[in-house]
Amino acid sequence: MIICKSREEIYAIKLSNQIVAKILAELKKMIKPGVQTKKLDEYAEMRSKEMDAIPAFKGYRGYPASLCTSINEEIVHGIPSSRTLREGDILSLDFGVIYDGYYGDAAVTYPVGEISPKAKKLIDTARQAFYKGIGQMKEGRRISDISFTIQSYVESQGFSIIRTFVGHGIGLSLHEEPQVPNFGQPGRGPKIKPGLVLAIEPMIAIGDWQVEILSDNWTAVTRDRSLSAHFEHTVALTQKGIEILSEVDEKESLSYLKESQYA
Ligand code: MF3
Ligand code: CO
Repeated sequence: MIICKSREEIYAIKLSNQIVAKILAELKKMIKPGVQTKKLDEYAEMRSKEMDAIPAFKGYRGYPASLCTSINEEIVHGIPSSRTLREGDILSLDFGVIYDGYYGDAAVTYPVGEISPKAKKLIDTARQAFYKGIGQMKEGRRISDISFTIQSYVESQGFSIIRTFVGHGIGLSLHEEPQVPNFGQPGRGPKIKPGLVLAIEPMIAIGDWQVEILSDNWTAVTRDRSLSAHFEHTVALTQKGIEILSEVDEKESLSYLKESQYA
């Protein structure tokens, strides 16, 4: 069942996502060669507490940390550790919180120092694929129109779409219906209408799309160990159009959040 959200609920989901956005922006500044990924996790957890939010991933199906840190050929669900970042790495951060009962979820891939032109193009393509995909979030389109658009764009750039992981409805839980695959034929699945809130999250690779799970039972890597990038935002379709809830909104400050323009 797809849970259609009211204006008030979309606003509450936005507050949660603004916390995610702020913490991801702060983490970006910490990314440097020599930094241990567990330091990023500790920071994300500490800042969540300061903002009265609960990290959404910790304990989710037994996931052991607040943040996912996936380096290079790691696609998603990389577990923060004492491993240090190195110049030229690419680092995907995936983070979610619960604030006032509502969920936020976003991910981004950042360069560590100078990276190769190919790695840069991979990151840009994941981001662009997301924006192309949400261009289909219009009343009357269907979920797989998003999927098809993302896949077509990524493959046109010479990269592959990871098929094992999908985007999802979000709001009252981390994963709600519908699933939003990043590949497939257009014109299938539920119709898109106002009140729909989705986390859209293309994961792409330079090489093949096959996935392997490491022995920690979480870290997903490309089977051919080619580089992978991830980009995710929580997006709502409102009466006014699309709103990216997890993009930093300078006008929102958590102090006056409750009664701003949505009231
Ligand atoms: N953004 C990812 C997802 O929607 C994060 C889940 S990490 C987990 O699946 F640890 F919570 F599984
Ligand atoms: Co997600």
